[in-house]
Parts: sequence; C-alpha cells; structure tokens
Amino acid sequence: MPAPPLNGADRPVARAPLLAFRGVCAGYGGADILHQVTFDVPEGGLTCVVGPNGAGKSTLLGTVSGIVKCRAGDVVFRGEPLGKASPRRRLELGIVQVPQNHSLFREMTVRENVELGGFILKDRALVRKRYEQIAETIPVVAERAKHKAGSLSGGQQRLVEFARCLMLDPALVVLDEPSMGLDPRTRRTVFETVRTLHRSGRTILLVEQNARAGLRLSTHGVVLENGQVRLTGSGRDVLENPEIGALFLGGSPRSATGSAERTAQPAS
Ligand SMILES: Nc1ncnc2c1ncn2[C@@H]1O[C@H](COP(=O)(O)OP(=O)(O)OP(=O)(O)O)[C@@H](O)[C@H]1O
Ligand SMILES: [Mg+2]
Repeated sequence: MPAPPLNGADRPVARAPLLAFRGVCAGYGGADILHQVTFDVPEGGLTCVVGPNGAGKSTLLGTVSGIVKCRAGDVVFRGEPLGKASPRRRLELGIVQVPQNHSLFREMTVRENVELGGFILKDRALVRKRYEQIAETIPVVAERAKHKAGSLSGGQQRLVEFARCLMLDPALVVLDEPSMGLDPRTRRTVFETVRTLHRSGRTILLVEQNARAGLRLSTHGVVLENGQVRLTGSGRDVLENPEIGALFLGGSPRSATGSAERTAQPAS
C-alpha cells in the first residue's frame, strides 16, 4: 500500500472533506464579496485561509456559521448542503466558531463564559464534565475560573474563547484570526493551543493574518484574494509558492522554509 501523502507538518493528510465550499457567492446588501468560492476542508486537517485585508475571509467564515447567507452555491457539511440551516442548527451539527473580535462577557466569570458555550446542551452533568475536561486542556480556565473575563489579558481571553467553543465537543472548529493583536509570546501560546486542538483530532478551519505561522501549522492552505480562491495546496506548498510568498507573505518563501521545490495548484 502506498504511504499516505505528507503535509506541511509532515503528518498524513486525511482526504475526505468534512466541509466543502461549492461555488459560494455571498455578500452584504446585494453586493457579492465572495465569487464562486470552491475548496474542501478535509476531515482531521487544519486548513488555513490567508489573504489580504478585505479579501472576504471573515465573510467566508460567516457562510459556515450561517450569519452570512449564500446567494449562490452552498456550504456542504458531511456531504449535506447546509442551505438555510440556522446558526443554532449548525452548532447542533458540531460547527463552532471563535469570531475575529473578542466575544466574552466581561462581567461574567471565566467559568460562566466557558459553560455558556454549552448553552444548547440540556444535560447539566455533561456541561460540568466537559468543563472539567476543558479546564485540564487549557490551564488558564482552571487558574482564572472565578475571575471576571474582562480582567484577563487579550491572549488569555482568546484561550477562554477556545475553551468555550469546545463545550459542544465540536466536529469543526472555525477560528477567525486568533492571534490578532497579541504579543509574540502570547501568540505562540495561542498557536500551540491551536496545534493541540488539531492533534486531539479536531478538524480546524483557520483564518490567520500571521500567514506564515498559520500555514506552518496547517495541513492545507488556501489563498483568498478579492473574494476568489487564488491558490490551494498543502500548507507547505502554499507557504513555498514563490508568487504567493512575494505577494502575501512578506518576502521570499525560501527564507521561511529553506526549500521551494514543490508548487501548489493554482485554483481554476
Ligand atoms: N457587515 C458588513 N456589511 C457590509 N460590508 C461588509 C460587512 N462586513 C464586511 N464587509 C465588507 O466585505 C469585504 C470583506 O470583508 P471581510 O471582513 O470578509 O474581509 P477579511 O478578509 O476578513 O478582512 P480582514 O483581514 O480585515 O479581517 C470588505 O470590503 C468589507 O468592508
Ligand atoms: Mg476578517
């Protein structure tokens, strides 16, 4: 049997898409921001979408959570078009999102915020059990459980937001610019936590302004420009693509990885 293909992190790539964008056109007030967006988010993978400010990355994630409607095309989850499924229905299916802007209730405690992530669960014992498990995985939750969320640093709040989204034991975790506004050390902790989530078996769809760092973590990369898919490939292939490196990643890709032998596939 042939060896499975390797990805940017030198781990086998799972091939079946958990989520797929199929010709997605979407926007606001009649004007499309996304134009025929098509790509797969493989199950078990960490797919990182990069692109300039205003490219439509957050809008794309909005079509996954259901807050942005597709005017044409659809987002497909486990082979089923999500169509008009409500944001709540999408949560029930196991699709959770951490938004670009901070979203904790500042006057509530860390524990209360995390438990809110399980608001659609009826079983209180399950909520408690999940909370205990998550507090072990993300230490700041246990350390600051009784503190008001508003008293935490930006990086700590990010980690609590991750914790909150885990309450539904999600199949797909969608993260919009988790490292935004963080100092380099805190950013590393956040990326480390993203890696831990991925290694624990979650499928992750990540949008990241720190494109190199995001692509280095990822199994799959997607470049979005002006609402269109410009390039798809393994995380490493996108990272090493000379044109993309120069345009979007700030300089030569060789300097980041030391090799640029393989090239990613331009989107058709
Ligand atoms: N609620 C909205 N109503 C109208 N236009 C919007 C809305 N949200 C975003 N836009 C516009 O849609 C375009 C894409 O925005 P979007 O936030 O998806 O980009 P992005 O790639 O996430 O950018 P950034 O890197 O700055 O987060 C931009 O021109 C933006 O001004
Ligand atoms: Mg955005």
